[in-house]
Amino acid sequence: MSDYNQSLLTSDVVKAFNQSPDPRLNLLMTTLVKHLHAFAREVDLTPAEWMAGLQFLTKTGQISNEHRAEFILLSDILGLSMMVVSLTQARESKSIEGATEATVEGPFYWPGAPDVALGGNIAEGVVGEPAYYTGHVTDVAGKPLPNALLDLWSGDGDGTYDVQLSATPTMQARGKIRTDEHGRYRFWSIRPTYYPIPSDGPVGELMRATHRPINRPGHIHMMVSAEGHVPVTTHLFVADSPFLDQDAVFGKRDSLVVPFAKHAAGTAPDGTVMDKPYYTTSYDFRLAPLPA
Ligand SMILES: [Fe+2]
Repeated sequence: MSDYNQSLLTSDVVKAFNQSPDPRLNLLMTTLVKHLHAFAREVDLTPAEWMAGLQFLTKTGQISNEHRAEFILLSDILGLSMMVVSLTQARESKSIEGATEATVEGPFYWPGAPDVALGGNIAEGVVGEPAYYTGHVTDVAGKPLPNALLDLWSGDGDGTYDVQLSATPTMQARGKIRTDEHGRYRFWSIRPTYYPIPSDGPVGELMRATHRPINRPGHIHMMVSAEGHVPVTTHLFVADSPFLDQDAVFGKRDSLVVPFAKHAAGTAPDGTVMDKPYYTTSYDFRLAPLPA
C-alpha cells in the first residue's frame, strides 16, 4: 500500500468512527485511531510485532480477575495512570489549589474495607513494624473537617498486599477511619516497605524485557473525602525508603514524602505500651471545596 493509501486508510477509519451522537466518544476513538496508525507507521510495525502486542494484551486480560488488576498495572508502568492524575489536576487546578496532591490508585484497591474506630489498628496481626499515624483533614484554608473519611490500604511489612497472599484472599491492612470533631485522625498500622510490582504476569515480562526496575518505594494508600469537598486518592511515602526516586509507576510526589520517626519500646503517644520499637508519623490532608 502506498503512503497515499495508508493516509486514506487512516482517514476512512477516522470517518467510520465519527458518526456517534456522542461527540466525546467520536473524539476519543478518532484520535486513538490516528495515534495508533501513526505509531504503526513510525515504527514500520511488522505482523510478528503486531501479533506479539495482541498476545500481550490477551495475556493481560487472561490473568486479570477480581483481585488481579493487570490492566491497571500496565497503565501504571506506562505512566498513563499518572498522566491522567496530572491532567485531572491541571484541569481542576483552580478549584483544587492548595489541596493535597493526588497520585495513582494502583492495582490493589479493594472497596469495602472495614470501619475501624478512631485510634484503632487497621493492620492487627499483620507482619511488619508498628507505626502510629496522626494528623488532620482540613480544607485548603486549614479549617478542620470533622467526619472526613480516610479509606486506607497498605501492603504488609514484607511489601505484600492481602490480595497477593492467596487466590481467595481476606482483607488485611485496610480500614476506614473518620476524623473527630476537630478534624483529627489517628490509627495504627505498619510502616510500609518498598515492594516489587507483581512480576509473574505479562507486565512483569515486559519490565524484564525492557530492563526496567520493578520496585515501588514504601507507601500507604488512602482515599480522603469529606462532604462538600473534592476527594483525593493519594499515598504517603516513607521518607527514607529505598527506591524513592525510582518508583516503577512514577507515582512519587515530593509533597507526599513524610518522615517516620523510630521509637524504642515504651509508651506510645496514645498510651499503648509497646514491647518493641515502633514508628510515628504525621500528615495533614487538605481538601478543596467542591466547585459551586
Ligand atoms: Fe501500593
